[in-house]
Amino acid sequence: MAQVLVVDDQRSLRQTLSITLSRAGHAVDEAGSGAEAIRRVDETLYDLVITDLKMEEVDGLAVLEAVKARDADTEVLIVTAFGTIESAVQAIRRGAHDYLTKPFTPDQVLHAVDLALERRRLRTEVRSLARQIDDPNDPAEIVGEGERIRKVLEVVREWASSDSTILITGETGTGKDLLARMIRRLSPRRDRAYVVVNCATIPDNLFESELFGHMRGAFSGATRNRKGLAQEADGGTLFLDEVGELPLEVQPQLLRFLETGEVRPIGQNRSVRVDTRVVAATNRDLHGMMRQGRFREDLYYRLNVLPIELPALRERRDDLPRLAQHFLERFARRLGRPVTEVSKRAMLVLRSYDWPGNIRELENVIERGVMLCRGNELRPEHLLMPGAAPPPAEASRPPAAGAGVGDAITLAELERLHILAVLKREGGNQKRAAAVLDISKSTLWRKLKEYGIDPGQLADD
Ligand SMILES: Nc1ncnc2c1ncn2[C@@H]1O[C@H](COP(=O)(O)OP(=O)(O)O)[C@@H](O)[C@H]1O
Ligand SMILES: [Mg+2]
Repeated sequence: MAQVLVVDDQRSLRQTLSITLSRAGHAVDEAGSGAEAIRRVDETLYDLVITDLKMEEVDGLAVLEAVKARDADTEVLIVTAFGTIESAVQAIRRGAHDYLTKPFTPDQVLHAVDLALERRRLRTEVRSLARQIDDPNDPAEIVGEGERIRKVLEVVREWASSDSTILITGETGTGKDLLARMIRRLSPRRDRAYVVVNCATIPDNLFESELFGHMRGAFSGATRNRKGLAQEADGGTLFLDEVGELPLEVQPQLLRFLETGEVRPIGQNRSVRVDTRVVAATNRDLHGMMRQGRFREDLYYRLNVLPIELPALRERRDDLPRLAQHFLERFARRLGRPVTEVSKRAMLVLRSYDWPGNIRELENVIERGVMLCRGNELRPEHLLMPGAAPPPAEASRPPAAGAGVGDAITLAELERLHILAVLKREGGNQKRAAAVLDISKSTLWRKLKEYGIDPGQLADD
């Protein structure tokens, strides 16, 4: 459903348009003059404005200009009489989507409206896709065939197609993001918007405006109309990540949206229905927080309709070999290394570790291992668990004791591991790493070459 404003000083034409569009399922407002139209676009976020070109005083071009100044994403269709096509073309140059020449049939109107709305939808979608492309994990597959993860996947396949809210819980790094994307892919909404809201990073005072939008002038700094993320997800999926971080003060706003399925941009005088599927995730114990009064009870039950708990990696060690192999192949390909398998002893090391950072930590350990490994077998000495790395304050002490996990390693290997650990801590910065190691930059450079370390690959993970 789209919000549409029809502007025409001729009542009969306005009403014909309005009826045609209402029948097609849109929410339609009417304005009998350009001035009234401008008042209206100050009060409501429209997806589309259809305006007559020739009107007394404030004409269609002025309406177009006002609409675009408030929200460049609002589409505008110009209605024009035969003979004024010249000005219609001018309107298109200034941002109108298309023009309709009078007289027109309902079918022609609906067709033009569909195209305009499609363009609007695509634009939003491109934005949400761009956000996802930034995500290096996508597209990713869910690896795992152990009992626990099989059960999770079974449930997900069943629930994905419904519109009910899903709450994913699990420690950090257990695959909550990945699972949310998979739910979307398995749902009938797979081709529609996927909008991610990270509740931990939005400042409290901006939450309402980010999620529900605002009108120009609603508060200082609001220079344009802006749709909220919840409305951008209309027809698609809204992923509320780290929902446990949501401060108590803004929880009622989210609750209201979940209860009513409606949003009201700040400064808009009425609410709009949106059709979104909500998936939420948290690594917090929401139930416990609720009992301590740190999470609203009503919100908890609204979110916890279909709960899915992702097991910690240490509780699903049967998946370790498959996951390790999966990451090994991925990074070998990406880094151009010949390594093809994990040695038996390395697997023992992986299995005996506790994985507080879960799959994300495993991914990092394997990536670093692949980088260190120059043969085709990943061995224990290539496994540098972050837990065993020296704490920052003691960085100058070699990481040997933990790193080798009981395996005797050569002095050269020890040196290489230590250089790596320091470089990593310094974010790949060779100058700082050389200073910490108390060697010259050229010595460091020589050693990097000797050990086949590429500092660029240590820069950011
Ligand atoms: N079952 C899985 N198979 C393959 N990769 C996974 C799996 N679960 C998680 N990952 C990877 O582990 C990393 C962390 O997952 P993510 O979904 O971001 O975790 P969370 O959101 O729970 O912190 C990501 O790179 C993700 O692709
Ligand atoms: Mg996450």
